[in-house]
Amino acid sequence: MQTKITLAESQIPTRWYNVIADLPAPPAPVLHPGTGKPVTPADMLPLFPPGLLEQEMSGERWIPIPGEVRSIYQLWRPSPLYRAHRLEQALGTPARIYYKYEGVSPAGSHKPNTAVPQAYYNKIAGTRRIATETGAGQWGSSMALAAQMFGLECTVYMVKVSFEQKPYRKSMMQLWGAEVIASPSPRTKAGRAILEADPRSPGSLGIAISEAVEDAVSREDTRYALGSVLNHVCLHQTVIGLEAKEQLALAGDYPDVVLGCHGGGSNFAGIAFPFVADKAAGKQVRLVAVEPSSCPTLTKGVYAFDFGDTARMAPIAKMYTLGHDFMPPGIHAGGLRYHGASPLVSQLVNAGIVEARAVGQLACFEAAVLFARSEAIIPAPESSHAIRGAIDEALRAKEEGKERVILFNLSGHGHVDMAAYDAYFAGKLEDFDYPAEKVRESLAHLPKVAV
Ligand SMILES: Cc1ncc(COP(=O)(O)O)c(C=O)c1O
Repeated sequence: MQTKITLAESQIPTRWYNVIADLPAPPAPVLHPGTGKPVTPADMLPLFPPGLLEQEMSGERWIPIPGEVRSIYQLWRPSPLYRAHRLEQALGTPARIYYKYEGVSPAGSHKPNTAVPQAYYNKIAGTRRIATETGAGQWGSSMALAAQMFGLECTVYMVKVSFEQKPYRKSMMQLWGAEVIASPSPRTKAGRAILEADPRSPGSLGIAISEAVEDAVSREDTRYALGSVLNHVCLHQTVIGLEAKEQLALAGDYPDVVLGCHGGGSNFAGIAFPFVADKAAGKQVRLVAVEPSSCPTLTKGVYAFDFGDTARMAPIAKMYTLGHDFMPPGIHAGGLRYHGASPLVSQLVNAGIVEARAVGQLACFEAAVLFARSEAIIPAPESSHAIRGAIDEALRAKEEGKERVILFNLSGHGHVDMAAYDAYFAGKLEDFDYPAEKVRESLAHLPKVAV
């Protein structure tokens, strides 16, 4: 029985899959944060290079992957698909569980799948420097390495609580040549305003995005990069699901359910979007995004137009949101603490094509420990949400006495997150359901838009 299902380098996808071609309705327009009117490519050019803007707005089903990008993908792609024989045994389930392992990338997660093309399209557009933000440090380290590969400078605004808790992610970014700044910082107007109101602010992804956007628009040679949420980011991540489909076909299987953890939506999009096309063609497959109950964007947020950042400088998008001034609690899956969600994932949830569920962090760590003790890989705390979701599906299959094929994305390893495991074993972690009245408070500040 095969455990690891691998593909040759020549089988790295040559095209990304664009889910917009298979949506039941066109996506809602993205609005300018100042005027509230639909953005034009000219509005966005100070932030993103033309190649990425084209992809952001394209309705083409397939978009070619440039040779320069594929040759860097070859450093770790195709990533392996594993059959979780040992986890199945530990659960005593009749389900067949598969996981796609994105922790084999140099940064240890799926994030380089988009960092590399983002650096490439910036390089060919003449950008010299990238400004970006990072929550837990996974995205920042991925962008740092991609910028390094294309000879770009890189400045990363890192959410302060992670900057202090995750010194090794900072070291990785510095090793790959990036400048790392704790956010909120005195370097930007947005950062100074937050610090004046609360000098001890732990920061948030929304604040760090404001700082990076302000940095990018204030310098001619600099553009901005985002590690999730946007259409082009979800597009780049579809290499995950495209490969997984080939690998499952080699194993002679097709999933009944596909799961991914959900922060801004990119790794979930990566594994799930290529199956949306099948669903549109009549195949039975469930697609499930799993989010933390402490930051329940898809399950407790509203589907509305909102700003992508705290300082209201980023474009306004229609998405599930908890409100742009939502202050997430300091849970250990830092990469899942974002107030919004990918507009594409949001539209699919709203249309009933994608399901969402929220899980508590203790149940996730319990799942991660069982996974590490059966499959050996130590998962990133973010990825443990997908594991929890997959285990629950497998246990339900056991209860019902049914065979079920489960595919999930193991978006990264947790080697730089051992402090989170220490806290779990020391009994220091708690579950936290974000209170409904707090959500209502944040939602009172949604922008009024005319569309
Ligand atoms: C390992 C890992 N998985 C998942 C995520 C969540 O992001 P997204 O929802 O964009 O995949 C992150 C974000 O930093 C991450 O580091």
